[in-house]
Amino acid sequence: MKTNKRFLTLSLLCAFMCILPSIFGGEAGEAPETVPSFVKFVTTIFGQDPGAPADFFVFLGRFHPLALHLPIGMLVVAFFMQAFALWKKRDDLHFPYCFVLGCSFVFSMVAVLFGSFLAMQNDYNPDLINRHGWGGLLFSALVGIAFFFKLSFLKSGQEKVVHKKISLVVMFIALNVMSFVGHDGGSLTHGEEYLFDYAPNWVRAITGRDPKVDPNAPIDPELSVYEGLVAPFMKNNCYECHSNAKMKGKLRLDTVEFIQKGGKNEGLIVHGKAADSLLYQLMVTNDEDEIMPPEGILPQDDLDFVKWWIDGSKNDKDLFEKKIKDANVPQRFMDINKRAKSAKPAHAKEAAAVEEVKQQVEEAKEVAETAVAAAEEMIKPAGAVDFMKDIAPIFESRCVKCHGEKKQKGEYRLDKAEFAFTAGDSEEAPIVKGDAAKSYLVTLIKMTDDDDDVMPPKGGVLTADQIAKIEAWIKAGADFPADAALADKSKK
Ligand code: HEC
Ligand code: HEC
Repeated sequence: MKTNKRFLTLSLLCAFMCILPSIFGGEAGEAPETVPSFVKFVTTIFGQDPGAPADFFVFLGRFHPLALHLPIGMLVVAFFMQAFALWKKRDDLHFPYCFVLGCSFVFSMVAVLFGSFLAMQNDYNPDLINRHGWGGLLFSALVGIAFFFKLSFLKSGQEKVVHKKISLVVMFIALNVMSFVGHDGGSLTHGEEYLFDYAPNWVRAITGRDPKVDPNAPIDPELSVYEGLVAPFMKNNCYECHSNAKMKGKLRLDTVEFIQKGGKNEGLIVHGKAADSLLYQLMVTNDEDEIMPPEGILPQDDLDFVKWWIDGSKNDKDLFEKKIKDANVPQRFMDINKRAKSAKPAHAKEAAAVEEVKQQVEEAKEVAETAVAAAEEMIKPAGAVDFMKDIAPIFESRCVKCHGEKKQKGEYRLDKAEFAFTAGDSEEAPIVKGDAAKSYLVTLIKMTDDDDDVMPPKGGVLTADQIAKIEAWIKAGADFPADAALADKSKK
């Protein structure tokens, strides 16, 4: 009975301590200036460069999250076996317990090994990586010690009772170390706030956190643009890799100071020039290997927002302190925080391809526009075309005879605005406002004398200058005064 009570107290204490790290764990650290001791240690052993290990190490390192659950699970099983043995005073569980403990030890070494490979990349929070790395090693060592003492107890024919007790105590300590190491590991992978992101507000209050932010709540215009819009945007899209847990590219984006400091390259933000700012450049680049965030391009509104934010700044004060109410924020940016990460469209590759085609179209358009403008310039006689002065005389002398009040050859009239735009027999629009090339009338007057359909069919074709005038008139919108009534003035 006495063992029983002692055991219960110990278990409760143990369980309580296991919760502690999630409340008091992980302090924010700096981006790594110097290589953390743990990283230095493992890179030295394996002869790798911190921050640039051989691919094969990284490959194995990625198995760390998979491997680490084995030793943890086994230690927990060992714990329950021990609990059961103590409670029911069973003496037949020593061997299986020792076996499970031994397995936990072996697998913990594998997990630590893989973990060290991962750490060689050296883009994690240095404090966390030191604690997690050395802690993992300590954990493995403790499990090993517990195992060997238990083994020695068994080998002595269950005589060395002290060894059994030592094993038990060390196992308890290992269990506690495990909870701290595990917590730091979680923080390294998911960021420290991961556990509490979805916690109810009372849990957040107990653990000293601000209440949850409702993404649908209107944004307080008293907040700065940075606090109210930029920071939440980055939290959604960038913190995962650029905050206190991971600092990819030596860049943290989670505080103003870190943003001002920038990453391993210069020019993170150039005031007033998003196009020159690395932060924006990497969000819109076509390079699939460089794009930020790496999973793919962000929605256009998000990109526009970041551009707007940087372009509108003359200094850091504009960037970080300007209030929303003074910034004249376009409405479509105000709900930027409602867009979850899942709003990302295609993967970077497709998005980049689309972007490329768009750009090509844009370029082609530009070329075409300059060409059209040049052509227009060429055909345009000095000054704008005036219908009554420039066009009416041509129609009156050359067309109205056959397309006027008396005759409507081809069922087409050209003497009044109300008829001129209506197709005749051909059912082809004779005049398309703004588009000479699509106007059937222009097609007909541009034909040569030997063509049956040329207009006018008799008396010779129109002069180049007359044709140019008609084209220019149509391009300019084919203004035909409603009250104009053209009369036949052809030479009889
Ligand atoms: C999944 C991880 C991940 C996410 C999410 C992510 N990044 Fe990165 N980022 C990286 C990695 C990895 C690098 C380093 C690339 C290199 O060094 O070649 C990097 C580098 C950068 C750099 C270059 C830093 C320098 O000085 O070289 C910038 C700027 C950057 N990221 C901005 C962003 C922004 C802005 C977001 C959010 C919109 C974002 N990143 C989201 C992984 C990420
Ligand atoms: C001598 C008579 C004559 C004169 C002058 C004449 N046209 Fe025509 N026009 C015709 C005939 C005939 C047709 C029908 C041709 C056909 O259907 O094959 C026609 C057809 C048209 C049509 C096509 C109508 C349709 O939709 O089917 C247009 C447009 C046209 N003329 C414009 C003009 C213009 C502009 C002028 C002056 C520059 C002009 N014509 C001068 C006889 C004339």
